[in-house]
Amino acid sequence: MILDTCDLILTTKSHISNLNRMNGNMNLTLKVWRQKNAQTSGKFVTYKAENISPDMSFLEMLDVVNESLTHKGDEPINFDHDCREGICGMCSLYINGHPHGPKRGITTCQLHMRTFHDGETITIEPWRASAFPVVKDLAVDRSAFDRIQQAGGYVSVNTGVTTDGNALLIPKVIADEAFNSATCIGCGACVAACKNASAMLFVSAKITQLGLLPQGQPERYSRVQSMVAQMDEEGFGSCTNTGACEAECPKEIKLTNIARMNNDFFSAKLFREEEVNEVKH
Ligand code: SF4
Ligand code: FES
Repeated sequence: MILDTCDLILTTKSHISNLNRMNGNMNLTLKVWRQKNAQTSGKFVTYKAENISPDMSFLEMLDVVNESLTHKGDEPINFDHDCREGICGMCSLYINGHPHGPKRGITTCQLHMRTFHDGETITIEPWRASAFPVVKDLAVDRSAFDRIQQAGGYVSVNTGVTTDGNALLIPKVIADEAFNSATCIGCGACVAACKNASAMLFVSAKITQLGLLPQGQPERYSRVQSMVAQMDEEGFGSCTNTGACEAECPKEIKLTNIARMNNDFFSAKLFREEEVNEVKH
């Protein structure tokens, strides 16, 4: 039998798709946001991601796509990542309308391709918030979070030598609550999920983490004022209690932190001005 070029291409394509079906691999279409920098406007570009194993992580799938782009001489897709195990908070991708993708309680680097199905189209965007300007493609500048943290997210008392853990008694329920807040990885998904681009969940987690523990008490009220002031200065929006931040947070940080932060903020303003001024000076 003699095959012409067209037949050969069709035979090879169907052979690949049969192989994919046999090993469970997938062919996907990606709509990826490409943007040169914050000063230029961006657009969606469509790519094929072929023969993708369901066991790959989402970032590994992007690595495969980037490898093929590089081989073709095209510019790879820029995206942030570091630990690739849900710790650093760098992998900030908005996938099919959700920060960190459609599964709850995980980061993009913990998202596996088995979440998607063969033939699916996946839309990938950067975080959208004016306080997080696009650096390139899917990478955004989240240094606003660093500046909020620097405004007061620390304990500056001289703690002296390390004391025995049991010497400072903290009720378990308080220790657990402080620990839960400390799991915030500063990824910014809460901002990306919020229609107002509010950073209240992030800031309240940092404030709770310190404000619940004895070591955080001396600066508790000056801290909340300074961090909230910096948050406003960075241009984040206000909270209107939609709860999108809590629903999309990969560390499942609770909205109750925001209530606690508001309580401390108003206490500082109404009843503790003298104390706050003393700490600030
Ligand atoms: S509160 Fe959640 S979503 Fe927001 S920065 Fe922290 S971990 Fe990320
Ligand atoms: S790369 Fe560190 S949390 Fe995803």
